[in-house]
Amino acid sequence: MSHIWRCVHFLVYCCLMLSSVGVQGSGYPKYKDPKQPLNVRIKDLLSRMTLAEKIGQMSQIERSVATPDVITNYFIGSVLSGGGSVPAPKATVQQWVSMVTEMQKAALATRLGIPMIYGIDAVHGHNNVYKATIFPHNIGLGATRDPELARKIGAAVALEVRATGIPYIFAPCIAVCRDPRWGRCYESFSEDPKVVQMMTKIIPGFQGEAPPSSKGKPFVVGTRNVAACAKHYVGDGGTYMGINENNTIIDFRGLLRIHMPPYYNAIIESVSTVMISYSSWNGVKMHANHFLVTDYLKNKLKFKGFVISDWQGLDRITSPPGSNYHLSVKLGVLAGIDMIMIPYNYTDLIGNLTSLVHDNTIPMSRIDDAVSRILRVKFTMGLFENPFPDPSLAGELGKQEHRDLAREAVRKSLVLLKNGKYKEKPVLPLPKKCGKILVAGSHADNLGYQCGGWTITWQGQGGNDNVTVGTTILEGIKSTVDGSAQVVYSEEPSSDFVQKGGFSYAIVVVGEPPYAETQGDNLNLTIPAPGPSVIETVCSKVKCIVVLISGRPLVIEPYINKIDAFVAAWLPGTEGKGVADVLFGDYSFTGKLSRTWFKSIHQVPMNLGDPHYDPLFPFGFGLETQPSY
Ligand code: GLC
Repeated sequence: MSHIWRCVHFLVYCCLMLSSVGVQGSGYPKYKDPKQPLNVRIKDLLSRMTLAEKIGQMSQIERSVATPDVITNYFIGSVLSGGGSVPAPKATVQQWVSMVTEMQKAALATRLGIPMIYGIDAVHGHNNVYKATIFPHNIGLGATRDPELARKIGAAVALEVRATGIPYIFAPCIAVCRDPRWGRCYESFSEDPKVVQMMTKIIPGFQGEAPPSSKGKPFVVGTRNVAACAKHYVGDGGTYMGINENNTIIDFRGLLRIHMPPYYNAIIESVSTVMISYSSWNGVKMHANHFLVTDYLKNKLKFKGFVISDWQGLDRITSPPGSNYHLSVKLGVLAGIDMIMIPYNYTDLIGNLTSLVHDNTIPMSRIDDAVSRILRVKFTMGLFENPFPDPSLAGELGKQEHRDLAREAVRKSLVLLKNGKYKEKPVLPLPKKCGKILVAGSHADNLGYQCGGWTITWQGQGGNDNVTVGTTILEGIKSTVDGSAQVVYSEEPSSDFVQKGGFSYAIVVVGEPPYAETQGDNLNLTIPAPGPSVIETVCSKVKCIVVLISGRPLVIEPYINKIDAFVAAWLPGTEGKGVADVLFGDYSFTGKLSRTWFKSIHQVPMNLGDPHYDPLFPFGFGLETQPSY
């Protein structure tokens, strides 16, 4: 390099160093001063940032590629755990905290020392993490119609997430699922936007209650709360035939009436981020929808947090996905996406976005809007002042108090759909002094099944031993009945076994295996084998109570007349004793259907208010019982 070039290079370096240490006619850089007004901090920091640092802030990468060097050298603003992505199998709190701490040190080692924000899916508890409390999935919480319970759950989940050093979660899903064939219907609180709106109280649970002056703007109370993410904007639950990531065909009035209302509440509740849906609206990919993302969400609804893509959401703008990444980046960022959940090919994202800015395809004003929003969230949640995990929270993971709350949620989520073949002879609550009873079915003693998808791994687990820590439904029954009772468990009993067993009654627990996203799309919604045959075998011989473990209504009509009592338990999570609490009358049944229960699959989709509404059990239905004490 010539002498002159060396001098120029040195002068530029000096200017950059001087600007970064705030020798701009002031002392300590304003952005580092928590006493400065928020907008002053944002403006000051933005003015110091290079394009590379700005684009780094917009980049979210998966933990498996997030080495300290990558974080520092590419100015990475965020890291995530994809579903099931953990520092080690059954990783301890300490292992999580060490991982996050190492990444944060790398982020703070950059020129401007902007902390990174670590995000994870805590959609029904801190579900990636071994020993975390797993709460009922949203379909069950919707059946509780209890916003205060939702808020308490949010607060408990926030503590368990913070115990592992993580300050940001991709929850709640506020989808309005309109077709139970959708593999993510259990992530939706209800088919009714009003019920979903009611349950957005989980957001101030996650984030803490924003003060009146901050209502409607991103806000996280402190280091015992987490930034939340309302997802997936918008219309994810309305796709054609419930096909995941497909097309939501509905006019704008319909979109505003059914799918948009929960976002009004989420913004009022100061949600910090919004995640974009993979789906399309009338053929336009949401990840490329400038009208709905910028004109409506940001400008009309005045959302001031940051908008994040879904996992490879930009890639899926084109078909096949990733076939024209340059175009994907252009359309996604111009639509209004602020942070890109890349998650792996960060050099492609950074390279394409840099060239799009250099050739003025993407104006710097768009980049500055994105970075300002990201910084706003990081400043308001105190990440600059408290970038590291708080070791005093380690004991929050799986705390008994949280498990008790989850058990309460299980109780309130159960929906009693049939209670005896004759109204005057109810079957439930069951007597605890019950002699010899049979418990049957694949889901009676299977912690993985009762938790469902998004548990330990993305798709969820089967099996009981070692999946995580919790109580199966069978274990709950055994610990509830009177000491004189004899509980016999047989997963798939023979007709002879049932006939000759001398059982006073049987509890049959069957349902769906765990699934997540597209893997859960299902066009026939039958109870998987051998569920139906176990129902037939047992219920034809003894009085039977069927408990269905599922992420949605399933075909039950062919068997309902053979069943004496029928309970929808949805996906209850780790605290299976909550089922026995209600079956045996320590608590009443209070749950109400958050979804319509069809007679036949040929009726689907069928939602409250539709013409020809002729369900087996209508939206809002649920029998009640009195406690037996
Ligand atoms: C998934 C889901 C989204 C989740 C994200 C990160 O594909 O669509 O709900 O938050 O990726 O795991």
